[in-house]
Amino acid sequence: MAYDWPVRRAHLDDVKEMHALLLDCAQKGLLLPRALSYLFEHVRNFWVIDAPDGGLAACCALAPVWDDLAEICSLVVREDCRRQGLGRRVVEACLSDCDVLRVKRVFSLTYQVEFFSTLGFSTINKGDLPQKIWSSCVHCPKYPDRCDETAVFKLLEGTRP
Ligand SMILES: CC(C)(COP(=O)(O)OP(=O)(O)OC[C@H]1O[C@@H](n2cnc3c(N)ncnc32)[C@H](O)[C@@H]1OP(=O)(O)O)[C@@H](O)C(=O)NCCC(=O)NCCS
Repeated sequence: MAYDWPVRRAHLDDVKEMHALLLDCAQKGLLLPRALSYLFEHVRNFWVIDAPDGGLAACCALAPVWDDLAEICSLVVREDCRRQGLGRRVVEACLSDCDVLRVKRVFSLTYQVEFFSTLGFSTINKGDLPQKIWSSCVHCPKYPDRCDETAVFKLLEGTRP
C-alpha cells in the first residue's frame, strides 16, 4: 500500500529534528535559523509530516503576529521528499488553524514565490506589512538593507466575521 505521509501537530520530542532540518536550510541561506529554545517555546505553532523511515519529512509553523494576521514560517521539506505535495500539505495544515484563531490574513517572507503562488498567495510590498513583523527579522544578518526575500500574502475566505 502507498505511504500516505501523515500530517500531525509537532510534539516536544520532534523539536531536535525540526531544529536540524531548519539549520540545514538556514546554512544554505534559504530561511532564518531558529534556536532550540525558540522551537520548544513555539512547538504548538508547528505541524510536521512523518517520513516512512521514521524521521521527519517536513515541518511548518503558523505564527500569530498581530490583530488578524499570522505568518507562515519555518517551512522545510526534507530534500529527498520534495516535489511530492508535502510542502503544500503542511502549509494547508497550518492554514487550517486560521479559522479557530480568527486569522484572516497570512503572509510569508520567502525565496519560494512560485511555490506560494500555487497555494493562492500573491506578492506584496514588504513595506505594506505591519512593523511588528520585523521583530524576528532584526535577528537576520540581512536586516534591514540587504533583505532579498519576497513578501507573499493571502487573504483568507470563509473565516468568521
Ligand atoms: C519550498 C518547499 C517547502 C516546497 O516543498 P515541496 O514539498 O517540494 O512542494 P510541493 O511538492 O508541495 O509543491 C507544491 C506546488 O509548488 C510547486 N513548487 C514546489 N517547489 C517549487 C519551486 N522550487 N519552484 C517552483 N514551483 C515549486 C510544485 O510544482 C507544486 O505545484 P502544483 O501544485 O501545481 O503541482 C521545499 O522546496 C523546501 O523545503 N525548500 C527549502 C526550504 C525553503 O525554501 N523553505 C521556504 C521558506 S519560506
